[in-house]
Amino acid sequence: MPSPLPRLLVTRKLPADVEARLDRNYDAETNPTDVVLTADELVARAEGKDALLVTPADRLTAGTIARLPASIRVIASFSVGYDHIDVTAAEARGIPVTNTPDVLTDATADIALLLILGAARGAAAGMAAIRENTWKNWAPTGMLSTDIRGKRLGILGMGRIGQAVAHRARAFGMVIHYHNRKRLDAATELGAHFHATADELFAASDVLSIHCASTPETRRLVNARTLALLPQGAIVVNTARGDIVDDEALIVAIKSGKLRAIGLDVYANEPNIDPRYRTLENAFLLPHLGSATIETRNAMGFRALDNLDDFFAGREPRDLVRS
Ligand code: DGY
Repeated sequence: MPSPLPRLLVTRKLPADVEARLDRNYDAETNPTDVVLTADELVARAEGKDALLVTPADRLTAGTIARLPASIRVIASFSVGYDHIDVTAAEARGIPVTNTPDVLTDATADIALLLILGAARGAAAGMAAIRENTWKNWAPTGMLSTDIRGKRLGILGMGRIGQAVAHRARAFGMVIHYHNRKRLDAATELGAHFHATADELFAASDVLSIHCASTPETRRLVNARTLALLPQGAIVVNTARGDIVDDEALIVAIKSGKLRAIGLDVYANEPNIDPRYRTLENAFLLPHLGSATIETRNAMGFRALDNLDDFFAGREPRDLVRS
């Protein structure tokens, strides 16, 4: 007898508590090996399913979406970003797409502060000195870095995460500047300096922190031309998406001394990052850990399931995304 529960393809291993809830409410095919599915595997396993629960590691291009079986009625992403899904193609097939906003704001903002501090304070070189046993002794002029207090933090994209970063950075004495498509109201802006263009923001940023979504408009927004607008010795950190940055231009800027340091949590073509990043001693690098806490990953999973629950109960999912 066919299962009365909605049939779900879950492309990656999820936290245990999330999988437990999944098992109670869905007829789910999970992925205990956690190996990323190829597009062909994803399409084949989607056969006979009602829904997909996917992650940023799955690329749902227009071509893949066109090949999904007719049984697929909804796609829930375990992420706030949805640049890995061609939402226009899904909409054209009448397949709604959902994401998981809000619940990863704090964890991601925390990682942005870690990158800002790690880059500004030369943490990568310091850690290398310990691990490689090259630390000789404490020296008044050894491994000098720079304070963040009093520095201008330029926030590119002042949405939920950008605002949470501003909140934390104020406590460190940073002066907040930002660029956003829409200026925030005064109560939300809290005295932050608004720049009507990204170019103006770059020119006013001792530290640039990227928090915009990856869209055709923001792809490679951080490039040779815009990096040249930054003050000499600026710092660039990215917790948003790798393709907002032109890797070549960023590497040239740090090698030339234009940038003092960089802090990256996200990369173009993850996990196959540009290998030159590994050779830069003033690059503080993390492997896309923005939302990687147990609490946050549980909350993301529950939020994705809330959206699926809504859909299968005939309600509009709370986190419907639109192209
Ligand atoms: C997201 O949800 O888009 C994040 O990048 C995952 O950490």
